[in-house]
Amino acid sequence: MDDHYLDGIAVSIADLLARDEEVLRVNEKSAVERQHAKGKLTARERIDLLVDPGSFTEFDRFARHRCTDFGMADNRPYGDGVVTGQATVDGRPICVFSQDFSILGGSLGEVFGEKILKIMDRALDIGCPIVGINDSGGARIQEGVTSLAYYAEIAMRNVAASGVVPQISLILGPCAGGAVYTPALTDFTVMVDRTAHMFVTGPDVVAAVTGERVSATDLGGAVVNSTVSGNAHYRAGDEHDAVDWVRTLLGYLPANNMDPVPTYRSTSGDEITLTDRALESLVPSDPDQSYDMRELVTALADDGEFLEVHEGFAPNMLCAFASIEGGTVGVVANQPRHLAGVIDIDASEKAARFIRFCDAFGIPLLTLADVPGYLPGVAQERAGIIRRGAKLLYAYAEATVPKVTVVVRKAYGGGYAVMGSKHLGADINLAWPSAEIAVMGAEGAVAVLHRRTLGEADEGDRDRLRQALVDDYRARTASPYLAAERGYVDRVIRPAATRIEVARALRSLRSKRKRLPARKHGNIPL
Ligand code: HXC
Repeated sequence: MDDHYLDGIAVSIADLLARDEEVLRVNEKSAVERQHAKGKLTARERIDLLVDPGSFTEFDRFARHRCTDFGMADNRPYGDGVVTGQATVDGRPICVFSQDFSILGGSLGEVFGEKILKIMDRALDIGCPIVGINDSGGARIQEGVTSLAYYAEIAMRNVAASGVVPQISLILGPCAGGAVYTPALTDFTVMVDRTAHMFVTGPDVVAAVTGERVSATDLGGAVVNSTVSGNAHYRAGDEHDAVDWVRTLLGYLPANNMDPVPTYRSTSGDEITLTDRALESLVPSDPDQSYDMRELVTALADDGEFLEVHEGFAPNMLCAFASIEGGTVGVVANQPRHLAGVIDIDASEKAARFIRFCDAFGIPLLTLADVPGYLPGVAQERAGIIRRGAKLLYAYAEATVPKVTVVVRKAYGGGYAVMGSKHLGADINLAWPSAEIAVMGAEGAVAVLHRRTLGEADEGDRDRLRQALVDDYRARTASPYLAAERGYVDRVIRPAATRIEVARALRSLRSKRKRLPARKHGNIPL
């Protein structure tokens, strides 16, 4: 090889290194200054936190916008405000994009959009989760309609990927306007306290249009989005916490809808343990007293570990991922600690979406029922508990993954029917001996059935008579045995045997194959 050629190579390598230097040192230094001053990490630091060390392969590091309007020709930073690439988390592949607010406000223009589409397409091609880190001023104002077009293109990919690969959004800065809808289309959204905001219109527009004065935090901070609106599935204390949650979540999920769920070595055995025995005193003898359903989930899950999803939203319904005998299970449970575990609109929508996610990705469902029914009230009726409560029935009925249900205490009325009943396609239904499966609670039933008798009774006798009727009703109907007689409950089990019985049931269903008839798609009540 001649010297001239070698000189040429050396020059081109030096040129590459200079460009890398500009991106990785010069721009990153400025990003560190700008982001850290706001209490935020840079786009690259966030990726480093999320992925296995050394696993990140970047795409399009030198991509630059082509816009010449508004003085943009002189401001063409490499990367165009978003870092994209492939990596691994605990050795399993993911595709990731991380918006860089330090460059053009992380605003989305044509090239920025192209980069995100490319990485989403790659995730779909290789069948791996997509993690999107959002920190952006929204549509790039200088690029006009092109920016808007790319939001819609990303939404198209979100929908194409829905139910094919898991999609996770981290909101670690502003996310406003139509930009909120692409995270909203993903499966899980994590928001960080203080620095993250998510709203369709910000406080100034709200004030101008409706006259309401509200702070950005009260309008779209992590608290309100994770407790009231339900847009966020987890509220993180800081960015480290947010990324930790996502790493844990990824550990429970299959890479795509064709892969099996991840499996881990499990030490749970077939002998009744002390923790199992403690379940015999979990449910208080007074039917009106509550207990924490998380204790039951802890007892059933491998190593007592599980990941609650949407913990702060509709806490009367508990949705969580856990491992049982080493394989991921989606747990759906009423939480008697909140509103006695009643099903309201929020609980119904929360559980329905979780069930549909599990079903799409082949994750078996474990339902733990202790439910007094659907929530009565004018507000709920007017807000559409009929239409919105129907989503939960739809989701259960549609799900073809293995479905195991344990009735722990109450399963009354519509609550019985919807919470993983045999009639909605559950495969194995277990009940504790203390379970009360009935049309309604004993007090309510006696009030309806014996209204006249009680009305005609002497006032002094009325309470005693009512109690006798309640006891009689409870003894005759509010037990698991009427359901067991009909095969609606497959087995009545001791609470201490629950972990072993649930594991056995899930094991027996591993080869379950069920397909719904071909159709374009169903029409879930939205
Ligand atoms: C271009 C933008 C930008 C944008 C911010 N910047 N947003 N550039 N397009 N949308 C630039 C700023 O000019 C500034 O550049 C840098 O990013 C940092 O912005 P600051 O305002 O200094 O930051 P901060 O004070 O933290 O305020 C953040 C902010 C604010 C609240 C997000 O920047 C803001 O209100 N931006 C506009 C938000 C917006 O209305 N977006 C359009 C939403 S509609 P310099 O050069 O000074 O560093 C939308 C439609 C999507 O997104 C439709 C989908 C269907």
